[in-house]
Amino acid sequence: MTPIHTYILGIESSCDDTAAAVIKNGSILSNVVATQSIHKEYGGVVPELASRAHQQNIVPVVQLALQKANIDKKQLNAIAFTRGPGLMGSLLVGTSFAKSLAMGLEVPLIEVNHMQAHILAHFIKTDEQSIPTFPFLAMTISGGHTQIVKVTDYFQMEVIGQTLDDAVGEAFDKSAKLLGLPYPGGPLIDQYASLGNPKAFLFPKPKVGPLDFSFSGLKTAVLYFIEKNSKDNPEFIKENLNDICASLQFTIVDYLMDKVKNAVKQTKIKTVAIGGGVSANSGIRKALQETESNLGWKVHIPKFEYCTDNAAMIAIVGELKYQQKLFASNDVVAKARMKY
Ligand code: KG4
Ligand code: ZN
Repeated sequence: MTPIHTYILGIESSCDDTAAAVIKNGSILSNVVATQSIHKEYGGVVPELASRAHQQNIVPVVQLALQKANIDKKQLNAIAFTRGPGLMGSLLVGTSFAKSLAMGLEVPLIEVNHMQAHILAHFIKTDEQSIPTFPFLAMTISGGHTQIVKVTDYFQMEVIGQTLDDAVGEAFDKSAKLLGLPYPGGPLIDQYASLGNPKAFLFPKPKVGPLDFSFSGLKTAVLYFIEKNSKDNPEFIKENLNDICASLQFTIVDYLMDKVKNAVKQTKIKTVAIGGGVSANSGIRKALQETESNLGWKVHIPKFEYCTDNAAMIAIVGELKYQQKLFASNDVVAKARMKY
């Protein structure tokens, strides 16, 4: 029999954030994230260093999540963990830890697909937000993915458009690097953009299929733009940082909006949800809110803490799978590449 209260621990370690969260009946009791600052000095995530940092962080992060949820580990009904996609060395830490804990506590183990979790984060109960109704379109925009997904049920997802090269988060981060900003540059571009003129400079929008994305051309365009202007004026970036960031963000957001509008037109589904780190971007949040009122869409934007990598999203998937008894066997292995 299913217990009245289900406490599920979610563990996330797919990239450079070690995270743990406890969920009780759809509500998050704790959501702890240890972001690894070590990667800043390298300008990107170094996989070997990420897995070492996960090793250090995993025990204190899980302990803190249990403490903040005010429960003992013996009260947990199941352990959910990110199986993939992600960096293998990072995934192995969360996977091994989750397997051992589930075995020790004699509770079910639940595997979670990280990308599904970014989408299903919308089903976490919050005071401010309503949950999406099926079917809906999800645009997953992160450092590793850029996809438009048709969601017909919790675990029925079909990718209908995706990037052919870089992910949108990479476009933000690589452009930021060219501007001399530290990693991850996405949030910094967002900050500077709020102070600049979005029409100051023109960047190209790459032409691919109506639902597909391409960002590698934009990175090259930014490189040439900086080289050309810095030749005439070595202080060009410094003097124009806000305007460059605002123009870049404007181009990227406009491009994302073009694609999601095409997807709505093609599928006739007007419920749109976003997920992944880049959904924290103020430009895309504003553009979607404006479209909601202009075109009569129903838009779902996650709370900030559920946008970037977190374990609350792993815990909600854990709960949804727990209800359906979708348990993993103890010989489950981490997977760097995983489909929906
Ligand atoms: O989902 P996430 O935390 O990790 C991956 O699974 O990739 O996404 C991280 C990405 C990074 O590229 C980061 O720069 C970007 O999300 N990001 C942002 C913002 N906040 C995070 N990009 C633009 N504006 C933001 N406010
Ligand atoms: Zn992610």
